[in-house]
Amino acid sequence: MLSLAACSSDASANGDCNVGISMPTRSLERWINDGEQLQKQLEEADCTVDLQYADNKTSQQISQIQNQIAGGAQVLVIAPIDGEALGPVLDQAKKQDAVVISYDRLIEGTENVDYLATFDNFQVGELQGKYIEEQLGLADGAGPFNFEPFTGSPDDPNAGFFFSGAWDVLLPYVENGQLVVRSGKSPASNKDWASIGIPGWASDKAQAEMDNRLSSFYTGSDKVDAILSPNDSLAIGIIASLNSASYSPGDEYPIITGQDADKANVKAILDGKQSMTVLKDTRELGDRVFQMIQSIIAGDEPETTDTETYDNGKKVVPAFVLTPLVVTKDDVQTKLIDSGFIDAKDVGL
Ligand code: GAL
Repeated sequence: MLSLAACSSDASANGDCNVGISMPTRSLERWINDGEQLQKQLEEADCTVDLQYADNKTSQQISQIQNQIAGGAQVLVIAPIDGEALGPVLDQAKKQDAVVISYDRLIEGTENVDYLATFDNFQVGELQGKYIEEQLGLADGAGPFNFEPFTGSPDDPNAGFFFSGAWDVLLPYVENGQLVVRSGKSPASNKDWASIGIPGWASDKAQAEMDNRLSSFYTGSDKVDAILSPNDSLAIGIIASLNSASYSPGDEYPIITGQDADKANVKAILDGKQSMTVLKDTRELGDRVFQMIQSIIAGDEPETTDTETYDNGKKVVPAFVLTPLVVTKDDVQTKLIDSGFIDAKDVGL
């Protein structure tokens, strides 16, 4: 196997450094950043890169990966739409010794995934749960408060990690009555998260769900005090629903969590319409995957940090796990703008 540096001129010419990148969708801001950043880094290292987006359609993702395999991809970097649907196509990948890196989300139910690069997604949920706990003073016995939990797309393995992290913090307060879920949409345990999942992480579906909960369970002077939103695309739908129900920023406005630091949500945080988001710096993740590919092309074992946690049902996938960060109104400047994650003008600053 040639190293990436050595492969610069001959390798890409004879296709040695050939990487297929498969992202879920362009409709969610972060995946555009993820795909384009990694593509740029690899192409600057003279790799041949095929970057594909699958419009959140699993069949489209499978055929795009098949094309990348047919195109001679040595390494496949895949953020699965449905964690359990890629077994057969990865069997094909293995037939040509392609190395498979699961990107951000764990590919499940197959031996044919070699590595995972992601953030600590359980910790993402924990940070959201602890934020609500602290803001409401739950540990000091405050309450009762009206609280509505949301969970992510039922086909996304990460959604289970997010919910488990948050529910480990919040369920005790639901059980002792400090948090009241008027809608009844309160999973009995971590493993029941998909029962209230929002398919495709779709903002419009989250908005419709919140409209329904508000109109059915929050009439008259009843107000919701806190909402667990696992990511920003759901939060933006929930905010729109609150808006049409005449909630406006101020003391009566609920706590709303988020994830991904999408521009629209950072603006909402600055406008007092969202309380926090969890930053998972896509540049860090892209850079880590770039380093993993360099090692793989050089015939070396990529560095990993966790060889125990990520059991995909067929094997424990060795993983490199990065650390997520809480961002509130007070640290948008330092954590997002000064770090270059977003431009001030994108959020009206
Ligand atoms: C998750 C990902 C989150 C969020 C969500 C919707 O898998 O980890 O960061 O982006 O998908 O795309």
